[in-house]
Amino acid sequence: MKAAITGVGAYIPEDVLTNDDLSKMVDTSDEWIMTRIGIKTRHILKVEGEGASYMGAKAVEQLLQKTNTSPEEIDAIICATVTPDHPFPATANIISDKVGIVGALGFDINAGCSGFLFSLEVGGKLVSSGQYKKVIVVGAEKMSSIVDYQDRATSPIFGDGAGAVLLEPCEDGNGIIDSMLFSDGVGRQYLHQKAGGSVKPASHDTVDNREHYIYQDGQPVFKWAVSKMADVSVEMMERHNLSAKDLAWLVPHQANLRIINAVAKRMGLEKEKVMVNIEKYGNTTAGTLPLCLYDWENQLKKGDNLILSTFGAGFTWGSIYLKWAYDGNK
Ligand SMILES: CC(C)(COP(=O)(O)OP(=O)(O)OC[C@H]1O[C@@H](n2cnc3c(N)ncnc32)[C@H](O)[C@@H]1OP(=O)(O)O)[C@@H](O)C(=O)NCCC(=O)NCCS
Repeated sequence: MKAAITGVGAYIPEDVLTNDDLSKMVDTSDEWIMTRIGIKTRHILKVEGEGASYMGAKAVEQLLQKTNTSPEEIDAIICATVTPDHPFPATANIISDKVGIVGALGFDINAGCSGFLFSLEVGGKLVSSGQYKKVIVVGAEKMSSIVDYQDRATSPIFGDGAGAVLLEPCEDGNGIIDSMLFSDGVGRQYLHQKAGGSVKPASHDTVDNREHYIYQDGQPVFKWAVSKMADVSVEMMERHNLSAKDLAWLVPHQANLRIINAVAKRMGLEKEKVMVNIEKYGNTTAGTLPLCLYDWENQLKKGDNLILSTFGAGFTWGSIYLKWAYDGNK
């Protein structure tokens, strides 16, 4: 028995931040951002007093409705996020409370931009153990809460949003087939948030020094991302004797269009088989993969071979190979 995705929900906040808006905040241009990153707009949550759980709950509510599932049926909920509502309790618990899930196993996973993929692995293993029948994996991020809008190197990249999937047992051969997931803490020096944790709790100094924002040294992150995402995706194809023509879709983390194109090229995939929505949403960190699945759901067919690949802070990276379990336009 395998674990299969049986539904997708999503939430994208209304407010849009365009490249032209950003050009008024930092020294940048639409041309630079489109050429170097491939992002045109990103959405920003501007609902007063709300954070990641607000978007996660909206995505989960839609997922429950689309799959005709009642909150009481959910056995576990895993939330992938680097922008939790609070350091504790877990955002998964807050989402559960908002949507009426009571008494389920619930916790957060922080694996940077690989958070959704790592959570899918854990959620899938819960289902395939036979003990958990309905598991929700939700990626929810309010990246705008940790982006420094005075830093032109990082402010164009990130956006807010959430996506959620339902995992259920599947007996017909479809579902999650294989996973290869990795991390290497040596990469933490290139991408992190300096303050607000136990090493450097919030203080007047940390605020004055702008240490609660994302710190990124872009070039090493770029190089690692291309080589690790491409290597693991190609290895996943080789492990299962999959050629480019056997694959229906690559579902890549949306960090930079140049990274996505380099990975697709190494896999020998034409652009038509690569899910790309970075232009509208930017990098929503743990939200990117479910937002892709949501945008392409209508085109997905039962039995389609999908490879999901990510790279993120940690560093973390990996691929999951799955066979899609339902016709998306049902
Ligand atoms: C951040 C990133 C887009 C920068 O692109 P890059 O091609 O590496 O650019 P560089 O950092 O070398 O900067 C090149 C020049 O552009 C400038 N620049 C940086 N950001 C700019 C912006 N928004 N607008 C205009 N110019 C900018 C730099 O100051 C630099 O100028 P200089 O040559 O005069 O010093 C790229 O490194 C990247 O995508 N890295 C991976 C990020 C990522 O995916 N993170 C998410 C986690 S997975």
